[in-house]
Amino acid sequence: MTHSSHSQKLEAIRYSRGQLSLIDQLKLPHVTEFFDVRNSSEGAQAISSMKVRGAPAIAVTAVLSLAVEIPELVSKNTTMSSFVNAIETRLDMLAASRPTAVNLFQALGQIRIILSKEVTQLPESRESISTLASKITMFAEGMLEKDLADNRAIGAHGADLFKSAAQRSLKILTHCNTGSLATVGYGTALGVIRALHDRGQLAHAYATETRPYNQGARLTAFELVFERIPATLITDSMVSFLMAKEKINAVVVGADRVVANGDTANKVGTYQLAIAAKHHGVPFYVAAPLTSIDTTLPTGDAIHIEERPSQELTHIFGQRIAAEGIGVWNPSFDVTPAKLISGIITEHGVITHDTSTGLMNVKRFIEEAGKK
Ligand code: MRU
Repeated sequence: MTHSSHSQKLEAIRYSRGQLSLIDQLKLPHVTEFFDVRNSSEGAQAISSMKVRGAPAIAVTAVLSLAVEIPELVSKNTTMSSFVNAIETRLDMLAASRPTAVNLFQALGQIRIILSKEVTQLPESRESISTLASKITMFAEGMLEKDLADNRAIGAHGADLFKSAAQRSLKILTHCNTGSLATVGYGTALGVIRALHDRGQLAHAYATETRPYNQGARLTAFELVFERIPATLITDSMVSFLMAKEKINAVVVGADRVVANGDTANKVGTYQLAIAAKHHGVPFYVAAPLTSIDTTLPTGDAIHIEERPSQELTHIFGQRIAAEGIGVWNPSFDVTPAKLISGIITEHGVITHDTSTGLMNVKRFIEEAGKK
């Protein structure tokens, strides 16, 4: 079923138990249309086609698409092992939907942990299958609330970076889309901009169009207009000139995967923003929840960078703009080295460089956050 919707609140994901629908982000900003996702196969399809995108939104969609399928899996599988097998097959399929944003793998990994823990503890019975099913469902549903709360905390910690009285008329630049559409709500980097706006400290936001897929022009511009935040759209190639002409107070971007040394994969183009920011003395912040952090990888070189179809460069809305026969390279993300990052704003505070070593110790930050 497809239905149109008007709402005062911008949201990518609508869920009530047994029902999941997503806004079709490929149709925004011209058409606001939700479509139903009835199972994990439709969830994986929505993720890989980028009808839903943004690291946190991808993860939440994946687990909720499994949650809405669970009643059917419970009725079809009469033994614990066949039920567990059915879940595992679906986790594998969801894991293959997009490779770079680690939030997806963190969320699927949490379900695998639930499976292995419960399977050893629960006796073989129909009741045990229902117990396991409800644990998975509750985990998936819990992500909705957690993501929203994390984003609000990120927004507050980010805005706190600009507390001094001198910082009242801030100009902040962002890249890609990291707002309500990329998350359950509020946003990460766009959440910081939103928080500054709410505190009356934001003079202006600048959004890059974010070639090749234009998440900035299509989605961030839409969100900024929707929220009545004063903002200007620029092309990615205008960033250095903007920084030379205007006093930009900070760049704040999101993340798809932050690794142990602080190197950060985010939408392609982020790295060149960080270089331009360094040259112009502009602080460069990454805003991301701990679920975007992957301390199993030591440096950014180990991150799997998704390459997307050449049509995203050669075509705009189905219309060919590039010469036939030209070769295309379309990495969807790039890696910004930690040394170009002033701080990583998380829901637990800001990860910075150690003053003595000059390095970011992401692992230690997470361990300490876990103790609080
Ligand atoms: O390819 P996309 O649109 O999924 O890429 C999104 C980004 O790179 C975002 O900056 C990142 O996922 C953070 S979203 C809060």
